[in-house]
Amino acid sequence: MTPGSQIGVVGAGYVGLVTALGLAEAGFDIVVSEADGRRLDGLRRQEIPFFEPGLFDLLTKHATQRRIRFTASNADAAQASPMVFIAVPTPANENGDADLSIVERVVDEVAPTMAPGSVLVIKSTVPPGTGDRLQARIAVIAPDVEVVSNPEFLRQGRAVADTLQPDRVVIGGVSEAAIDRVASLYSGASTRIVRTDRTTAELTKHAANAYLAVRLSFVNATANLAEAVDADIDEVLEGLGLDPRIGRGFLSPGPGFGGSCLPKDSRALLAAAADAGFDFGVLRAAIAANDAQAPRMVDKIERAAGTLDGARVAMWGVAFKAGTDDTRESPALRVARILADRGASVVACDPMVTDFPTFITVVDDPLDAVDGADVLVVATEWPAFLDVELKEVAARMARPRIVDMRNLLDADEAARAGFDYVGVGRRPAGPAFT
Ligand code: UGA
Repeated sequence: MTPGSQIGVVGAGYVGLVTALGLAEAGFDIVVSEADGRRLDGLRRQEIPFFEPGLFDLLTKHATQRRIRFTASNADAAQASPMVFIAVPTPANENGDADLSIVERVVDEVAPTMAPGSVLVIKSTVPPGTGDRLQARIAVIAPDVEVVSNPEFLRQGRAVADTLQPDRVVIGGVSEAAIDRVASLYSGASTRIVRTDRTTAELTKHAANAYLAVRLSFVNATANLAEAVDADIDEVLEGLGLDPRIGRGFLSPGPGFGGSCLPKDSRALLAAAADAGFDFGVLRAAIAANDAQAPRMVDKIERAAGTLDGARVAMWGVAFKAGTDDTRESPALRVARILADRGASVVACDPMVTDFPTFITVVDDPLDAVDGADVLVVATEWPAFLDVELKEVAARMARPRIVDMRNLLDADEAARAGFDYVGVGRRPAGPAFT
């Protein structure tokens, strides 16, 4: 593929929109189809549907230069494009399996409109074996279109940078020619390209997220154990992370992993493994450990509050991690839900989130959140919370107690400000503990 060629992208969600703009930045002409009318209208007015650093500028640039256009019709995006990316959702079925009905419907719709020799690239995260099944599915309706797997590894909050400078690109296909065509999209980026078959590419994506899930559940379990044996998790992780085979990244303990990918993809891989006759016990244990982490945080909050019934809990942050306005499977909301069910009132603020569930009272300012509160819960590691004067926080609260689910604050500084402070795997600090 040479710059200036047209590429179709079906789906303007996180993956689709960022991929489309990354391809526009690489010089391709992009047609994106989007089924949600409101989202489509917004994109046509150059409004981004979610917060992501750098995304607005890219959209403005490429929409103004007419390098990208948006349409309601999948066929319109696909027809004149020698390459079409599928980036539609793969939600979970009740048993955790990935629901592929949207991917299948879209493939059925676009494949027959594509010219012989075109390439249909699956960006959505799908279970191993899906690409082969899709290829068989279009055998009659589009025999000369090749399905290629090119999974996405971007992180929310860094999606644009991850797309423009990927650490690796994985391309799975049958013919060298189709793999070469997808590889040519990345010729401007200095990155390693792994060329393989479709099922291996799909498993690579799932294995990456499953490994991260197992790693985090291991870290959280170690933090929980540190509490039981009176050790300090920060120092444990420093020592652990200095082993170059382990590394220091992705080792922060917390209330459990959330977001739209790690929890869902872990469950989907577990289900896909079971379908294939393999019991992925390590992954099952990681999921169970993650499910237990939010209730464990609630126990800490209950101990800090005395009782949850009637307690007023201030919550700093509700996004599933810092750097995003996304609350899908957010551990903060998991904790807030249990607190509300147990009779506590939760007053929360978040620098980016605009959509809050009704069981939370929303305020704009972290200081307003703590007014009269029995406990402050730090639920998302937003750096802005570090700028709030802790002495003033203590003065405004009914009782100066902090449960820091992200180990964001300095425990000693909190103790000096008069707080009883509890983190995750850290030794408690403050007047009650000294
Ligand atoms: C994740 C993967 O990191 C990406 O590589 C992948 O492409 C993406 O899923 C996807 O499949 O689309 P993302 O969901 O943006 O990316 O979020 P992460 O940064 O992985 O965080 C997931 C959860 O783990 C969050 O709740 C976060 O707070 C938690 N986390 C992360 C920790 O508790 N500790 C850490 O050290 C890191």
